[in-house]
Amino acid sequence: MLITGASRGLGAELARIYAEDGWRVLGCARGSIPRTDETDRFHLDVADPASIEAVGRALQGVAIDVLINNAAVRGDTGGLPTLETDDFLTVMRVNALAPLLVTRALLASLKDGERRVVANISSRAGSLAEGTLDDDDGDYAYRCSKAALNMATVKLAQDLKGDGISVLSLHPGWVQTDMGGSDAVVSVASSAAGLKAIIDRADLADSGSFRAFDGRQVSW
Ligand SMILES: NC(=O)c1ccc[n+]([C@@H]2O[C@H](COP(=O)([O-])OP(=O)(O)OC[C@H]3O[C@@H](n4cnc5c(N)ncnc54)[C@H](OP(=O)(O)O)[C@@H]3O)[C@@H](O)[C@H]2O)c1
Repeated sequence: MLITGASRGLGAELARIYAEDGWRVLGCARGSIPRTDETDRFHLDVADPASIEAVGRALQGVAIDVLINNAAVRGDTGGLPTLETDDFLTVMRVNALAPLLVTRALLASLKDGERRVVANISSRAGSLAEGTLDDDDGDYAYRCSKAALNMATVKLAQDLKGDGISVLSLHPGWVQTDMGGSDAVVSVASSAAGLKAIIDRADLADSGSFRAFDGRQVSW
């Protein structure tokens, strides 16, 4: 399996539990990755298309069963008054565009895989139906990026069905990471375990769906 943003938070824990479960883990990060003997490390800055293409080239001929597009940034959270063009575009680039470019760069490897699953780590914050029900954070860029990522999931699911590749949007919960902050309610371990269980069971019937770490269906 290959995961982006494996340096810390949810990405590091997912890499760890897949390795623990006996998978070969290709852990990607723009900086250093925690050392585990089981994880192969790749340099990947998902904001840089050349970096994405380089990883695609390096993995030519290597089958990949599961791709987890996990790397993301939050961006400005100050609402409309502090909305700023460069920040907004960086968040869109990392959270929405990069998963498409990474999936395209690794498509041949995914087709060679047996499981053929792409999991896009999204957020309920990007749900048009549920995203603003119980919080009013001023994170315009983040929410717009995850809504765009959700459409990328649906579009990829449609495009890649013929190749037998399932594509999911997954909400990890409000998780105790640097991004989630100290008030978050879900441990990294239970979020990662829940996400892995969903990915382990995913098949084409699930493709194009939006699920939370606890199995609940999230409305788009
Ligand atoms: N935590 C939550 O409550 C929550 C809720 C909903 C959804 N999510 C989603 O869950 C996923 C994981 O979030 P997290 O809580 O683990 O966040 P986190 O602790 O802030 O970690 C973010 C990860 O993304 C990586 N990253 C950011 N920009 C990158 C880039 N340009 N290239 C490569 N890697 C990059 C970071 O790498 P560096 O170490 O190099 O910065 C880090 O590994 C994200 O998709 C996030 O949107 C989280």
